[in-house]
Amino acid sequence: MHRMKAFILPSLLAADAGRLADEIKRAEDAGADALHLDIMDGAFVPNLSFGPHIVAMAKRVTSMPLNVHLMLQRPDLFIKPFADAGADTIQIQVESSCLVLETLGKIKALGVAPAIVLNPETSFESALPYLFLVDECLQMTVYPGYGGQKFKSGPLSNIRALRAAAKAAGKPDFTIMVDGGIDRDSIAACAEAGANAFVAGTALYSKADMKSEIARFRSLVSRT
Ligand code: DX5
Ligand code: ZN
Repeated sequence: MHRMKAFILPSLLAADAGRLADEIKRAEDAGADALHLDIMDGAFVPNLSFGPHIVAMAKRVTSMPLNVHLMLQRPDLFIKPFADAGADTIQIQVESSCLVLETLGKIKALGVAPAIVLNPETSFESALPYLFLVDECLQMTVYPGYGGQKFKSGPLSNIRALRAAAKAAGKPDFTIMVDGGIDRDSIAACAEAGANAFVAGTALYSKADMKSEIARFRSLVSRT
């Protein structure tokens, strides 16, 4: 079997909002591979979170890659501010009200890696038209909008189908990321289905010793 490196991404949404810079450094010191930043507009999801200034702050305080998840109705209107802020990857939801292919092209043209996101009930087939342009797909395992929700196992079938589709498209190193309710109990099932990148907010930031928890995640993934 082609074993892929497992990427662990703490989600800043679950960090102590009064100490964001320290919380970013805590993730880096704990051995995280990248930082996940959730951007919400109160329209695509019923909540608000960060804007580009928080991404720019993260860029100043860490050398970890910044993985920016846009939960926006019109992500196409905000690509440049997030690229300028220092995003390394920009993920857009296929359900948003924009021209997805054009928006992915816009992200790429700014020198940022484009990625697509699927909600739990979105068919994996919605991702297929974009596979030629992206190297990463984020499969939501909760409805986006809030941290701390319970993991949904329904999307595991999408992960299996996406992994097969990526292989068939000649992309053995395609990244399949999962987000929502990822913890000690759910991570192995995602890895077994074909995910190789794992976002976790509550399960990592709630631990005083994030380093041990990340190590535990890695050992659970490596056993699959
Ligand atoms: C949910 C966000 C997630 C969130 C995950 O809308 O996209 O990234 O921070 O939080 P947990 O790991 O607590 O489910
Ligand atoms: Zn997210």
